[in-house]
Amino acid sequence: MKIFISIALLAILLPAMSYAEDVHKHKEHVKASGVEALSPDLRNLLSEEMKALQDGMMSIIPAYVSGNWGEIETTAEKIKSSYILKQSLTESEVKELHSVLPSEFIEKDQRFHYLAGMLEHAAKIKTRINKFLFFQND
Ligand code: HEM
Repeated sequence: MKIFISIALLAILLPAMSYAEDVHKHKEHVKASGVEALSPDLRNLLSEEMKALQDGMMSIIPAYVSGNWGEIETTAEKIKSSYILKQSLTESEVKELHSVLPSEFIEKDQRFHYLAGMLEHAAKIKTRINKFLFFQND
């Protein structure tokens, strides 16, 4: 079971990280076609979101090593629901995002948040299995 969960974690983390890497490889392309055209407020929000994402991703590795699946679940849920961006956007900012950024950006972002949701799900199951095993040994 441990091996299965480890494989599941890798299967979710690696594509999520490679999505991010891919996005940043194409950063110049995205910049030329959109990000630089965002209003300063929206661009600042994006930047804050990225920093929160970086902190979240960095917290997952030590949580995994120490078997803290509850923390992984919480972090994955925050990534899924977006730390700041989606939660503090006004209706006109949503329209701005969709008109300024290429559809490729929106698709990658949706896929990224979907994968974070999958990680949240796997972490939740792992937490339940751990609780079950703990009570079995009692
Ligand atoms: C593990 C996931 C990710 C991490 C850790 C991450 C991290 C970062 C960081 C640290 C920056 C620089 C922010 C700054 O100093 O202003 C950045 C910029 C950026 N990221 Fe991400 N990112 C991730 C995923 C994504 C995804 C999924 C997208 C879009 C689909 C994306 C799009 C961008 C763009 C467009 C910028 C440039 C923003 C600008 O120049 O104003 N990133 N990211």
